[in-house]
Amino acid sequence: MVKKNACIFISGKGSNLKNLILKSRDYNFPIKIKLVISNNKNAYGIFHAKKNSIPYLIVNTKLRNFEYLILKSLKKNKINLICLAGYMKIISKNFLSKFNKKIINIHPSLLPKFKGLNTYSKILKNNEIKTGCTVHYVNEKIDNGKIIIQKNFFIDSSDNENTIKLKTQRLEYKAFPEAIIKIYRNF
Ligand code: GRF
Repeated sequence: MVKKNACIFISGKGSNLKNLILKSRDYNFPIKIKLVISNNKNAYGIFHAKKNSIPYLIVNTKLRNFEYLILKSLKKNKINLICLAGYMKIISKNFLSKFNKKIINIHPSLLPKFKGLNTYSKILKNNEIKTGCTVHYVNEKIDNGKIIIQKNFFIDSSDNENTIKLKTQRLEYKAFPEAIIKIYRNF
């Protein structure tokens, strides 16, 4: 199969990146990870790119033209899909209008609930019965684009922020690859 070229954007640990690298080794998985972009030079996730010989770009978001540099690199690598995997920087309207391919994001809640930051503490404070994760298309509003896939679980009375995070991330490792398969199956 002809795989689509993907770029994964990270800012931190990169466990979703690691998982997508593993999945993309499968002949039938629709993407090849051509590039990793991090806005944080100390992101642990860069290690996964290095270890797997995937080119990576560390961007300095203090530079006024940093999105232009990203766009240039995406073009050079013929990227068809951007996966935001814990990327902690807002994608600008200008970027969205210039990159006219797909951009998807993973968020650790059942959107439209609990957009933005500090998701786990908000979920607990709100005494939710269920939570989970969402993969969605990215638009100009934060955590707001069309939902591709959601996975959920019931919250136990013994759960805390750490256990909810662990359970959510376990689901993320299923949801992100499934969302990518779904996108290209429907294409
Ligand atoms: C994930 O939980 C994702 O939902 C959120 O940021 C986290 C990134 O984790 N947007 P990792 O860097 O992939 O380990």
